[in-house]
Amino acid sequence: MHPTIPDTQTTPVSRLRCINCGNVADHAGQDFRCPNCGDLFEVFYPGWKTADAVKAAGLTADDLKQLWQSRKTSRQPADTSGVWRFRELLPTLQPGNHPITLREGNTPLYDLPRCASIAGVETLQAKHQGMNPTASFKDTGMTTAASFARQEGFRWVACASTGNTSASMAAYAVRGKMRSLVLIPEGKISWGKLSQSLDYGAVTCQLRTDFDGCVKVLGEVVRRMPVYLLNSVNPYRLEGQKTAAIELLEQLAWQPPDHIIVPGGNLGNSSAIGKALLEMKDLGLMSRLPKLSVIQAEGANPFFRSVREHGGKSLTPMQADTLATAIRIGNPASWKKALRILQATGGAVEQVSEVEIALAKAEIGSDGVGCEPASAVTLAGLKKLVKQGLVKSNEMVVLILTGHVLKDPEFTLKFHRGDLFAGSPYEKEAAVLAPQQRGPLVLDATVDAVIQTLNDCDRADPTSGLHAS
Ligand code: F0G
Repeated sequence: MHPTIPDTQTTPVSRLRCINCGNVADHAGQDFRCPNCGDLFEVFYPGWKTADAVKAAGLTADDLKQLWQSRKTSRQPADTSGVWRFRELLPTLQPGNHPITLREGNTPLYDLPRCASIAGVETLQAKHQGMNPTASFKDTGMTTAASFARQEGFRWVACASTGNTSASMAAYAVRGKMRSLVLIPEGKISWGKLSQSLDYGAVTCQLRTDFDGCVKVLGEVVRRMPVYLLNSVNPYRLEGQKTAAIELLEQLAWQPPDHIIVPGGNLGNSSAIGKALLEMKDLGLMSRLPKLSVIQAEGANPFFRSVREHGGKSLTPMQADTLATAIRIGNPASWKKALRILQATGGAVEQVSEVEIALAKAEIGSDGVGCEPASAVTLAGLKKLVKQGLVKSNEMVVLILTGHVLKDPEFTLKFHRGDLFAGSPYEKEAAVLAPQQRGPLVLDATVDAVIQTLNDCDRADPTSGLHAS
């Protein structure tokens, strides 16, 4: 028998709290910053801080697990969403307001056997958030924040983006009958992502600056115009994104992994996943905390430097540069939230080079999974954490892959053609990539030419099975 808990009984009452001065509010201003100190808000649920409080409200952890499981067979739109299925842990929309959903979440957890042996761990899994409707993890946060934008009566939503937030926002805005304004750095996002926001009807502006410059301009626009900000400073985004961790734990039968590894850009996603871990532990949904580690690209490593050089006491913004354009961010908004998660879970922050990212991306591809460059920092970082001894070979590790391999096909093609680092300072170091490169072959349209190619493959790798006796 499934528990039959009516939605009203399980509805959480959520409020906003400033992460710096603790100021509590029920509504935030246009910029989602605390009016007292200017820091970020987070959503909190005064009613269910501890497992005991939850029990008193009639919600045992086992009830919740069964309820969420039972919704998998429901056809209600909110139940078919892999985000709203967990709505007991989300802020509640007012009666009559339905979520804007594209059936986000519900993403697969894959084994990565080749990558496991390369990294030096017995088993390795990847939660592939690139398998969301617009092919990145952003959809899980966009469904919640866009739904709140519509509830508040906004006609326009906006974001600054390195490409994935904008693609996702544009899709959810148009589904919710809102207009959307996208600010992206000109020439510094992948064509795939740009084409998505065009197709979903966003007003797409390529600004002659970087991501951090776009954030600055947008900040002023939202102060002057009735436009709802959908960057991850919006705490409702992070509430949706945290469900990736809840769904992951459900997939693992509520046995926490030892490590979760997340790419770090603006640091919203690591904060969101970490928040879910702390809440699940508080609610008695799992028994212990995994260590959450954040990996940045060397050319966009302000958080790594903050922790290593200043013990996380301050963060110095930098001019960011990396081919993993999704995380080309020099002034991450949510760094204080992410720092808290590292400290609470005992995770680490690492940096990886351009060549390490490219190699790891090809290795994830060779497991038949694939991802975009920014996601591959997780595997590159894991290799380092294993060498440093933070991750032991027999521990359970989950990588969060944030974007689909087709998000940035130009990177992949250049990699396999051997052009990715041509003429760059990394050209020499990139020689290690040769064994992973499989450029396309151009042949005469004859059977002989194709068979000759097969024979060449067999000579190069006699274990290929072509001429097995
Ligand atoms: N991976 C991908 C594929 C991303 O698109 C992003 C961020 C990140 C990782 C980093 O996540 O910012 O929460 O630390 N993309 C944003 C965007 C900034 O505009 O699409 P984060």
